[in-house]
Amino acid sequence: MCRNITAEARESLLGQKGCVIWLTGLSGSGKSSIANQLEVRLHSMGKSVYILDGDNVRHGLNSDLGFSDEERVENIRRIGEVAALFADAAIITIVSFISPFRKDRDMARKKVPAGRFFEVFVNASLNLCEERDPKGLYKKARRGEIPDFTGINSPYETPISHELEVDTGALSIEESADKIIDLLTKKRILCAE
Ligand code: ADX
Repeated sequence: MCRNITAEARESLLGQKGCVIWLTGLSGSGKSSIANQLEVRLHSMGKSVYILDGDNVRHGLNSDLGFSDEERVENIRRIGEVAALFADAAIITIVSFISPFRKDRDMARKKVPAGRFFEVFVNASLNLCEERDPKGLYKKARRGEIPDFTGINSPYETPISHELEVDTGALSIEESADKIIDLLTKKRILCAE
């Protein structure tokens, strides 16, 4: 059976283009704060927006996965699939995960139409993230209590093909969100035509 309602029709109904804003960076780099700020800002502009993050994905769909390399690959694979469905539903989809491996981020990019995937490198030095240590996890990792902690004893592959970088050591959360909104505006995501 062929389906009658196209992605374009859904976008025209919502007055926006479906896309994936993929926030990647170390734990404590500011991904969640930026995701939340961005969601509030876009929502107040009348846009349909949704965050996929550890709170709603790692506790549900991916609750069977831990933090070994293989489990992180599977974590990101599933998130990439779900994000692509949300984007096809014309939703502005904000993804907030460390997503440490370049290959997995590239796979997620391939799931959405060209020009609809925005990889945003939320950049803060390991030192700064460790200083912030909002959940006390870096301290635990340094004490050897967390076996595969990103940046300490598990790798983070810095983006090379990202659309945008926000340096949260220099920019406020509001300024970082501004930069992302500017990019979406420039790329005509916030209108259907
Ligand atoms: S990812 O690498 O698979 O993308 P994800 O973003 O889902 O990671 O989860 C990262 C969050 O889980 C961190 O912000 C931290 O709160 C928590 N966490 C628990 N164990 C680890 C670990 N070994 N490495 C990194 N983060 C961990």
